[in-house]
Amino acid sequence: MSVWAANYVAKRIIDANPTPEKPFVLGCPTGSSPLGLYQHLVKLNKKGVLSFQNVITFNMDEYVNLDVNHPESYHSFMWNNFFNHIDIKKENVHILDGNAPDLLAECAHYEEMIKEAGGIDLFMGGIGPDGHIAFNEPGSSLASRTRIKTLTTDTLLANSRFFDNDMNKVPKQALTVGVGTVMDAREVLILCNGPKKARALHHMIENGVSHMWTASMLQMHPHGTVCCDEEACAELKISTYNYFKDKQRIEKTIEQYNNLY
Ligand code: GLP
Repeated sequence: MSVWAANYVAKRIIDANPTPEKPFVLGCPTGSSPLGLYQHLVKLNKKGVLSFQNVITFNMDEYVNLDVNHPESYHSFMWNNFFNHIDIKKENVHILDGNAPDLLAECAHYEEMIKEAGGIDLFMGGIGPDGHIAFNEPGSSLASRTRIKTLTTDTLLANSRFFDNDMNKVPKQALTVGVGTVMDAREVLILCNGPKKARALHHMIENGVSHMWTASMLQMHPHGTVCCDEEACAELKISTYNYFKDKQRIEKTIEQYNNLY
């Protein structure tokens, strides 16, 4: 899944032939789902296949009131797992500041910066077990923009694995791009892997669009892709599963990106 997704993203960047005047704008997630993707992108960068010199990034979210140097801040995650290992310019990296004195102003400024960069070309994302995208928890407006969000107990529990398995150590709030912010991207690529995501994948693609499963908004996107593994498909209808398998076989979409770089 990771190699496929990384090759897909790499091809998008390479084909766009970005320049300082017309950079490629990439939306970035955190979490365990994109780790392998980042590793493969780093490899491609080191091999000289892909450059990030003219890539601008915007991260999805960041905890409120967590020191940026905390090992579990999304700043640390991104620099440790990705940015420190590629040729990206520091000034081209954007991550929300969860310690800003005025959090609402920080969110509004983030939306402005995305606009000034020309909008996001490709927003990569993961999905929470409850179907959230970025930190857009169940019940979020599907038109939401970047804002402060209070995390659900389910999310605190899921993310406690990064905080000594202690839910009380997980920050209770985060700044997050909105569902509307993600939907404005010209393309969206969601990674979804493992049995814990099976229910969310079912709701994301087989049920209707619902603010209780915010990733389901992808159904309304003109260019949305879900990249998943077999285990994540466990709750899909057999007919859905078979259709996408047939589609992949006929369109040769797996081979196309698996062996690209
Ligand atoms: C957090 C992040 C999401 C991410 C989700 C799933 O809630 N805010 O952006 O998609 O975790 O994380 P993982 O990939 O580790 O399952």
